[in-house]
Amino acid sequence: MASHQNPASLSKDELHTLASKAIDAKAYAYCPYSNFRVGACVLLSTGAYHTGSNVEVASTPVGICAERCAIAPIVASIKRPDMPVIRAIAVATDISPPASPCGMCRQFINEFATSKDLPIYMYGKDGLDGDVVKMTIGELLPMSFGPNDMDRNK
Ligand code: THU
Repeated sequence: MASHQNPASLSKDELHTLASKAIDAKAYAYCPYSNFRVGACVLLSTGAYHTGSNVEVASTPVGICAERCAIAPIVASIKRPDMPVIRAIAVATDISPPASPCGMCRQFINEFATSKDLPIYMYGKDGLDGDVVKMTIGELLPMSFGPNDMDRNK
């Protein structure tokens, strides 16, 4: 995806919806092995919200994180090059201070981010009533290796 498109900042209502959906998505987590619930929500430039939650299996490395669970169906349902811009992502867990996306998810988010400024909002045990941590994908994954590096090798 093009790296010049900057995700415009979110309105108060959009952030409230994004956060609420990520927090609500925790209820759908399938995490009988860790009991660590994670919910995620992605806001697209189309105005659509897509949620995901972590899904574990008995063979533990096979499970998937909430963030990738939210993003993969978006990518898999839209023909290239029509990919909408991801404007923001929210992640919710039951711990405070809030957890941040794992390394694998940072790499996955980076793949589909059109800007290093893509904001990631993190919510903890008190949900909307608690503290929120906001960081960009560029801050979470500095010196990243991404699609542009593959292009540079052509
Ligand atoms: N998990 C996520 O869903 N997202 C993250 O960014 C960190 C970890 C999940 C994976 C596993 O189901 C559980 O949390 C404990 O690691």
